Amino acid sequence: MTSKNTKKPWGGRFSGPTDSFVEQFTESVSYDQRLAHYDIMGSIAHAQMLEKIKVISKKESSEIVNALKEIEKEIQSDRFVWSTALEDVHMNIESALVDRIGDIGKKLHTARSRNDQVATDIRLYLRDEVDEITLKINEVINALLNLAEEHHGTIMPGMTHMQSAQPVTFGHHLLAWVEMLLRDRSRLQDCRKRINVLPLGSAALAGTTFPIDRNYVAKILGFDEVTQNSLDAVSDRDFAVEFLASGSLIMMHLSRFSEEIVFWMSQRNHFIDLDDAWCTGSSIMPQKKNPDIPELVRGKTGRVYGDLMALLTLMKSQPLAYNRDNQEDKENLFNAVDIVKSCLIAYTGLISAISVNQKAMYEAAQAGFSTATDLADYLVAKGLPFRDAHEVVGKVVQYLIENNKTLKKDDMSLSELEKFSNLIEADVFDILTLEGSVSARDHIGGTSPTQVKKQITRLKKQV
Ligand code: ARG
Repeated sequence: MTSKNTKKPWGGRFSGPTDSFVEQFTESVSYDQRLAHYDIMGSIAHAQMLEKIKVISKKESSEIVNALKEIEKEIQSDRFVWSTALEDVHMNIESALVDRIGDIGKKLHTARSRNDQVATDIRLYLRDEVDEITLKINEVINALLNLAEEHHGTIMPGMTHMQSAQPVTFGHHLLAWVEMLLRDRSRLQDCRKRINVLPLGSAALAGTTFPIDRNYVAKILGFDEVTQNSLDAVSDRDFAVEFLASGSLIMMHLSRFSEEIVFWMSQRNHFIDLDDAWCTGSSIMPQKKNPDIPELVRGKTGRVYGDLMALLTLMKSQPLAYNRDNQEDKENLFNAVDIVKSCLIAYTGLISAISVNQKAMYEAAQAGFSTATDLADYLVAKGLPFRDAHEVVGKVVQYLIENNKTLKKDDMSLSELEKFSNLIEADVFDILTLEGSVSARDHIGGTSPTQVKKQITRLKKQV
């Protein structure tokens, strides 16, 4: 990057050079060069429109388009020299265009401003990123569906308050994360509708005196519609805030999931192991194999929330129309996009790296009297009101704790159980098994292995 005191495209009314601190303070090219591809895309469409409305000739338009394509090649192959003196990606590219084709290049900025240009660039960029993130969500979902299929009948302890509550199937547990990710995906699709609207043509703030054809530009660039108010179009960034809110929710879900993976992998539980390739070690404790990947996902979540807060705050005091504050939208947006994408990639890998310790899950599911609700339901089915059944089973559990017993058949005799209610008969032991407990919850949304299989069939069609 150079900072030679190049003549500014806006320099006409200035008699002195820009202070070098001001140049550094105001530049955005060090980061907005990421938008170069979209800036050129927008410029090409704009030139084609200027030709259509006869503001430039066919020959001029093709010279501009060809030169822009060459500039893009130079940028892609890292040969382009960016200059902070030229402030941002827009002026760097425009200036390179003028260097190549002279006066014709100077015509490109007719009927537009950097204000509608940058709003267009960000929308084009974000639209692509939303599509890529959507694909990455699908990959995580596919990995989860595969694991859930394999473990549709594997039993684990379901928790509330981090206490054993009722047995659930591991497949059912994994599908809970699929549901969350599907909502994340639909939020992104919804946000995409509001991203995919063309601001170009709004010019600096009021529109332009030229007879522009905005629908033509929208068609070339694949926008669904054009913005309807120039002041709004150059200034608001609500579509970016919406994206960051959707990204924050993706991170919130991945962060919650990370907490579980760390918990499952802890030696206390040993419900799962992660392939060596997806763990890291300790520099002092030779025995360690740590789940750093989910921990980093959990840690990165705060940064994306921060990006959302930054953009909300950026917008909250801005009067109409464009203000330079808006230049500060990009770094947070880019940061959030990068983090969300890398964390989704991490999750596809992590899910595939999981190996399940079914025995540890099963044993943990036995603990904590996890079939106590099934016993209460059994009494209710035999005519006892639920509150009374709850009371009876509470007494059973108290007895079990005092006598260091569990609800397992080999631990507890029928005669012991019968003392608590004359409704209890030999068939009680069928419902007190973990298998009986999960299989009994056989309705839409329930944890039974049959339901898990049905849900997987339904979900596979959605991905
Ligand atoms: N670099 C600016 C931004 O990112 C766009 C240029 C608009 N600048 C201006 N002085 N009107 O928002």
